[in-house]
Amino acid sequence: MSLLERIAALEAELRAATAGTADEVERFRIAFLGRNGSVTALFDAFKQVSAEEKRALGQRLNQLKQAAQARWEELRQGATAGPATADHALDPTRPAALDPAGTLHPITLVRGRIVDIFARIGFTVSEGPEVEDDRHNFGALNFPPDHPARDMQDTFFMEVPGGTPAEGALALRTHTSSVQVRVMEGRRPPIRTVSPGRVYRNEAISARAHCMFHQVEGLYVDRDVSFAELKGTLDHFAKAMFGPEVVIRMRPSYFPFTEPSAEVDMSCTICGGGGCNVCKHSGWVEIMGCGMVDPAVLANCGIDPDLYSGFAFGMGVERIAQLHYRVPDLRLYWENDVRFLEQFNAEAFRS
Ligand code: PHE
Repeated sequence: MSLLERIAALEAELRAATAGTADEVERFRIAFLGRNGSVTALFDAFKQVSAEEKRALGQRLNQLKQAAQARWEELRQGATAGPATADHALDPTRPAALDPAGTLHPITLVRGRIVDIFARIGFTVSEGPEVEDDRHNFGALNFPPDHPARDMQDTFFMEVPGGTPAEGALALRTHTSSVQVRVMEGRRPPIRTVSPGRVYRNEAISARAHCMFHQVEGLYVDRDVSFAELKGTLDHFAKAMFGPEVVIRMRPSYFPFTEPSAEVDMSCTICGGGGCNVCKHSGWVEIMGCGMVDPAVLANCGIDPDLYSGFAFGMGVERIAQLHYRVPDLRLYWENDVRFLEQFNAEAFRS
């Protein structure tokens, strides 16, 4: 075999060589590039050839050496520490490992869902402050000065320098009905809006009560708004939120700012109306308060009650979330335990 043929054969050989592990890569290096390796051996043979042949052969030999080094480098990059198997080969089609992402809080998810249902039927979203004055939380809503809800037992009053916990003082709002007043003061009918937000009441914390929770208020004011529209709207909400099979009923009730007023019950989503612990074996669960906006409230906010009428409703987001997710203890919503929080995701609503 001529030197030229030996170079060609070696080139083919090293191109075909494989190495899966670091050991095999090292064996490749010794076999081709080591002191007694086959490429090195050709350089020794090269010394014997005539000066005339050297010019052409020298270039080929250098090419061979570069090819051997390039191949060695290539094998080194691909080698793994363990034995070579198909599993260890780089697979660029595998999906990337994603960074872990957080999840939305269940109350955030349910509040978003409630707002979304009303947005689709023409309600805007409005918000108000959590620290409220007496007029917006009580006065304009027709609460008489001696109404028990104004009591220190129920309301967290703020200490204002020089102030007393009487009219004029600030308090954490006890309901989102305060936003009704703010909206009506600032806008002319027609008004269709929902107001989600946090509210505060001075309650002992237990599985069923908390000193802070969330409400979504609804308000619709226009000419000739009727109780039938209120009932139709809430029936639509209950079915959109919980499914077409649920039904609602209304019971007469009392709120200072609505007349007439009602509590809204919904057929129990847990037992389907047959009776269970959640509905206290009645088949019904209370989901909100509502009523026709009292004409005195409209007048307090500068809206002529002879021209306009309206309805309002207010629901607890935790209550709706409890019925949707079956969370038995209200305190779980505030404890920030990731094992609890990780169980909720937006997919649950895509049915
Ligand atoms: N504000 C009432 C509550 O917190 C709920 C309500 C809102 C009732 C609007 C009637 C109309 O209990």
